[in-house]
Amino acid sequence: MVNTATATATATRAPETAAHVFPAAANAGAGARIEVQGVSHWFAQRNAKDGAGGPLQVIEDLDLDIAPGEFVALLGPSGCGKSTLLRLVAGLEPASAGRLLQDGKPITEPDPSRIVVFQDPTLFPWRTVWDNVALGLQARGLLKSQRHRVDEALALVGLDAFARALPHELSGGMAQRVALARALVNDPRLLVLDEPLGKLDSLTRLAMQTELVSLWQRKGFSALLVTHDVEEALFMAQRVVVFSDRPARISEVLVNDLPYPRHRSDPKLVELRRQALALLGLGDSW
Ligand SMILES: Nc1ncnc2c1ncn2[C@@H]1O[C@H](COP(=O)(O)OP(=O)(O)OP(=O)(O)O)[C@@H](O)[C@H]1O
Ligand SMILES: [Mg+2]
Repeated sequence: MVNTATATATATRAPETAAHVFPAAANAGAGARIEVQGVSHWFAQRNAKDGAGGPLQVIEDLDLDIAPGEFVALLGPSGCGKSTLLRLVAGLEPASAGRLLQDGKPITEPDPSRIVVFQDPTLFPWRTVWDNVALGLQARGLLKSQRHRVDEALALVGLDAFARALPHELSGGMAQRVALARALVNDPRLLVLDEPLGKLDSLTRLAMQTELVSLWQRKGFSALLVTHDVEEALFMAQRVVVFSDRPARISEVLVNDLPYPRHRSDPKLVELRRQALALLGLGDSW
């Protein structure tokens, strides 16, 4: 079923994209426009008894636009379909129904202009930090002519001094920054982030949130972030899309037009947090 009621209700409260209302990043032209149009997705389901089973619907008739240079966050219950949507947007698998477009062209396969950063940095332990970051360029045969891009990406995440270190010599936060540099070296037009800070201690996490926002502002890519952390979503993103239980449908879109840098104690953030928690069924505990 199309969630038109919600979509229409949302549209009256919130503009289609926050980026239409206020400038996203200094370099917003670098960001991709992403359109998710009527997308549904099913997986084959195996039941415990005989391994057979009907399809499991994970996403239901979803419409979502990301404007060039916009930062959008997704919040929703565990297992509702957030990572699945990211995989579809990244082109890692085709949607069962509907269309996904980047700058008007169908997304049919992975592309270096769309890079995903996962919760686990998954660095190659035998390769130095520099060699890990160089992977994408190497795979595309660009490393010889564009070695400077590796140095630039490491400088962007503040790890130039650790270029020759091995992954086991890094802290968790540093390893995650290497993963970010490995993504940024490709100069993505869309950065897809699946709980990229989920394994970090809370202080490193707060620092990394600020760093990520600053990277986004400097580079101008579009960003699509999945997080379980309501404050993180609201601190970083211009729009926070709250999903229902599986199959994922849009329950609400919260627009956060606060300028950057943001202050965590800003009354508007506190109010948006209250709204987001209520939408996630946690309203009573706050
Ligand atoms: N490859 C797959 N084959 C079958 N089912 C899958 C597959 N990938 C995901 N699912 C199912 O799809 C549903 C949504 O999974 P998904 O990983 O998108 O959830 P999520 O919202 O990212 O959850 P979480 O917040 O816990 O990461 C789950 O029920 C999961 O079991
Ligand atoms: Mg997930």
